[in-house]
Amino acid sequence: MPAQISADSFQDDLQTKRLGRNVFFTREVGSTNDWAKELAVLGARDGTVAIAETQTAGRGRLGRSWISPSGGLWFSVILRPMFKPAETVKLVFVASLAVAEVLHELYGLKTETKWPNDVLVNGRKISGILTEMNTTGETVNYAILGIGVNANFDVEEVFPEELRAVSTSLKAEIGKEVSLEELFRSLLERLEDIYEHLLCDGFLHVLNRWKNFAGFLGRQVEVANRAERFCGLALDVDNEGCLLVRSEDGTLRRVIAGDVLFRVM
Ligand code: BTN
Repeated sequence: MPAQISADSFQDDLQTKRLGRNVFFTREVGSTNDWAKELAVLGARDGTVAIAETQTAGRGRLGRSWISPSGGLWFSVILRPMFKPAETVKLVFVASLAVAEVLHELYGLKTETKWPNDVLVNGRKISGILTEMNTTGETVNYAILGIGVNANFDVEEVFPEELRAVSTSLKAEIGKEVSLEELFRSLLERLEDIYEHLLCDGFLHVLNRWKNFAGFLGRQVEVANRAERFCGLALDVDNEGCLLVRSEDGTLRRVIAGDVLFRVM
């Protein structure tokens, strides 16, 4: 288990009904998302969490690798929502909102969400989210919500050159190490709270809260996905979680998947 987390005190203090009531800890694993999938296939219940001190094959979106040294918070939550597959995109917003709110409340950081799944501080990525699911027809058997937070390490020491300028960590932003146990517990509590709002009040509640952190809205951006790359003004995120961009040729574009890059004007 991550050296800074004690399984006993963690469970005693955790104020959740479902999330984290069952936690699997390990020192090292390939990817907590892959481990969580194995647990889900074996029947792990809704809210089960897999957490590791380091990942040797951490995965990011779009097939990228995710560097996961000791000192970070790397975990995956198994959810069994009564959703249709297309609705699981909502979980990305639940997770990035939870991270943005908790990092702001615990450490006073000015966090921003960047569509679709990043949390930034001072324009640099501090957290990423990878959701995956297993389906049978229109039934979601399980969804995996993988969350990584760059916490107690220096990106300059660990990340390759090309990632250093666009990444940051809690240690760099706050100037000291944080309690991983407190962070992990707070994130699970907030995730459960927002997930319950999603189920009871609907996606608009989550999305409107998420937009409070969405500093990229109203900015000139470049959108890149497998099919194309174009520039425009980020206008909004619609009720299905798609990004709306007024492209430079004046057309309104609705983006389902891709990356948003900021443009320096
Ligand atoms: C991204 O920004 O591209 C998503 C990164 C997601 C990283 C987390 S760390 C815990 C979980 N396990 C993984 O292999 N990936 C996610």
